[in-house]
Amino acid sequence: MAPDVFVRRARPQDAVAISRLNNSFAAEGQMLLRTPEMISLAIDDYIVAQGPAGEILACGALKEYSPSVAEIAAIAVSRDAHGQGLGRAIVRRVEDLARMRGIYDVFALTLQPEFFSAIGYERVDRARYPEKIRRDCLACTRRFACNEICFARNLLIEAEAPDAPVERTGRADAAVVGSIPRAHAA
Ligand SMILES: CC(C)(COP(=O)(O)OP(=O)(O)OC[C@H]1O[C@@H](n2cnc3c(N)ncnc32)[C@H](O)[C@@H]1OP(=O)(O)O)[C@@H](O)C(=O)NCCC(=O)NCCS
Repeated sequence: MAPDVFVRRARPQDAVAISRLNNSFAAEGQMLLRTPEMISLAIDDYIVAQGPAGEILACGALKEYSPSVAEIAAIAVSRDAHGQGLGRAIVRRVEDLARMRGIYDVFALTLQPEFFSAIGYERVDRARYPEKIRRDCLACTRRFACNEICFARNLLIEAEAPDAPVERTGRADAAVVGSIPRAHAA
């Protein structure tokens, strides 16, 4: 990743740029359409990568399904910036956000299985996430022809990996990575 790219929590004023980036892939059916209003409502869940001129180069979000399970969602990298490690960097910061919220079981439903494999995710049966199926899949028009593949990562185990330095807290079941404060309860 270029040294002048800054990965950070999203701010309300990023919503339009995030929507534009997201929808450039939604038009091709690679992502769900998300309006600036939808993104504004969930802005505390978004991470962005900002370029040297302040432009939004990549984004991603944590979508919570239960106190212990969340989806790594809406990962998008500007076409000009593909292949530079931005997708991986965004996912790692979204994972940090999950850890800060005490969530260690994260999954993704994706049309990019090679990407999630390359960044340490394991292919799993989506039936493992009934919360996702109940909330989103059952109402989806593509539910009988869905070609998305489910990938998951256990952050409690993976926190020991060298690219995710962990600062242990006093609690045996808690680990804090990074310094992302939770602005609001989701
Ligand atoms: C998928 C996407 C997020 C990847 O972003 P990226 O910044 O290009 O990915 P990175 O550079 O961080 O790559 C990380 C690893 O994944 C691999 N990878 C990324 N995209 C890949 C692809 N399409 N096929 C195979 N491998 C891929 C890279 O080779 C790299 O592996 P390495 O570390 O072993 O070299 C980006 O292509 C994108 O925005 N696609 C359109 C939107 C989309 O489909 N989002 C996913 C929704 S869940």
